[in-house]
Amino acid sequence: MEKRRRSVCAVAAVALVAAMLSLGEAAAYGGGGMSPDYYKTTCPQLEDIVLKEVTRKKNETIVTIPAVLRLFFHDCLVNGCDASVLIASRSADAEKNSPDDDSLAGDGYDTVNRVKAAVEQKCPGVVSCADILALAARDVVHLASGPYWTVELGRLDGLVSKASDVEGKLPDPDMHVKELTDIFYRSGLSQRDMVALSGAHTVGFAHCSRFTKRLYNYSSTVKLDPSFNPEYAKRLMEACPPDVGPTIAVNMDPFSPVVFDNIYYQNLKNGFGLFTSDQVLYAEGVSRKTVEEFAESEPRFFQAFVESMMKVGRLGVKTGNGGEIRRDCTAFNH
Ligand code: HEM
Ligand SMILES: *[C@@H]1O[C@H](CO)[C@@H](O)[C@H](O)[C@H]1NC(C)=O
Ligand SMILES: *[C@@H]1O[C@H](CO)[C@@H](O)[C@H](O)[C@H]1NC(C)=O
Repeated sequence: MEKRRRSVCAVAAVALVAAMLSLGEAAAYGGGGMSPDYYKTTCPQLEDIVLKEVTRKKNETIVTIPAVLRLFFHDCLVNGCDASVLIASRSADAEKNSPDDDSLAGDGYDTVNRVKAAVEQKCPGVVSCADILALAARDVVHLASGPYWTVELGRLDGLVSKASDVEGKLPDPDMHVKELTDIFYRSGLSQRDMVALSGAHTVGFAHCSRFTKRLYNYSSTVKLDPSFNPEYAKRLMEACPPDVGPTIAVNMDPFSPVVFDNIYYQNLKNGFGLFTSDQVLYAEGVSRKTVEEFAESEPRFFQAFVESMMKVGRLGVKTGNGGEIRRDCTAFNH
């Protein structure tokens, strides 16, 4: 739409050049008029401020890393990257109140709120919460020794946040490859994107309830999911006995839980996938080649992860009247 509007220009030659430029821009930087230079004049220190505040928070708690990364994913998959997941509603009917979002760690929200406060001091009223979350997600991956990438900016904050919009948009840990592929596909993401993005489970925690079915009640005929490495299953049973409370969580990557690396994929090859949705990526044939590729080559995983994260960052971007620059990331302006 942006492209078409620009090419209806009075001077034909200028219009042609403008259209070509905007096409090139669109190819390189995605739609919606986003660009890495979006705040170049209005908030030149933006990226330094974000990195400083994210680092400060990460120095306080390592949970910052997985919490921010997951928050970004959940925001973007539900009605686009528009910070709608950050809205706090008094009647508890906002996106974050959905059961699918109830385990999003508070440290993710806290990180964005702190960055926003610091940004508002230097550049009041110009930087969206959606862009702050996108930058923070890039920074936490890099702080955990993962890849670095240039973040496209220019997202506005959304005007809608409803718990009822979440259902069916986010993947479930009990899903198999076909269902996972379908759910990502609905957001314009390929199966390869899905496999690459699942590599985010190289950091962070999961509550026992998300996978105990695989340990104690897999099917009517077998109690233990046979795709588990037996030693790993034993350790998980110790950490998560059948009567375990709702607060107990385990590392999702038992070997390098705070480093963003490709060990997640090596784990899958050895039966150390925590969720059904992790283990099936290797256990079921269709996506196994991609798992093997990423297990073998960290650079290839990193490259694919970056490309997929940039795709995620372009989902449902709001522009014009479709959004605003929130003053407070947890509330609409009006
Ligand atoms: C492929 C389908 C996916 C499924 C089924 C899934 C599901 C889950 C579940 C159930 C948890 C544990 C939540 C808890 O118990 O508290 C979790 C954690 C996490 N997920 Fe995913 N996820 C998927 C993809 C992704 C993607 C694409 C990303 C980011 C790019 C991501 C990032 C994370 C992170 C970082 C954590 C750890 C959160 C923390 O420690 O606070 N996940 N995921
Ligand atoms: C975070 O910790 C590192 C390593 O201890 C330190 O060098 C850095 O200055 C800290 N940064 C902030 C912003 O607190
Ligand atoms: C085992 O799973 C079945 C089917 O999902 C369920 O109906 C049953 O209540 C579960 N049993 C236990 C002990 O959790």
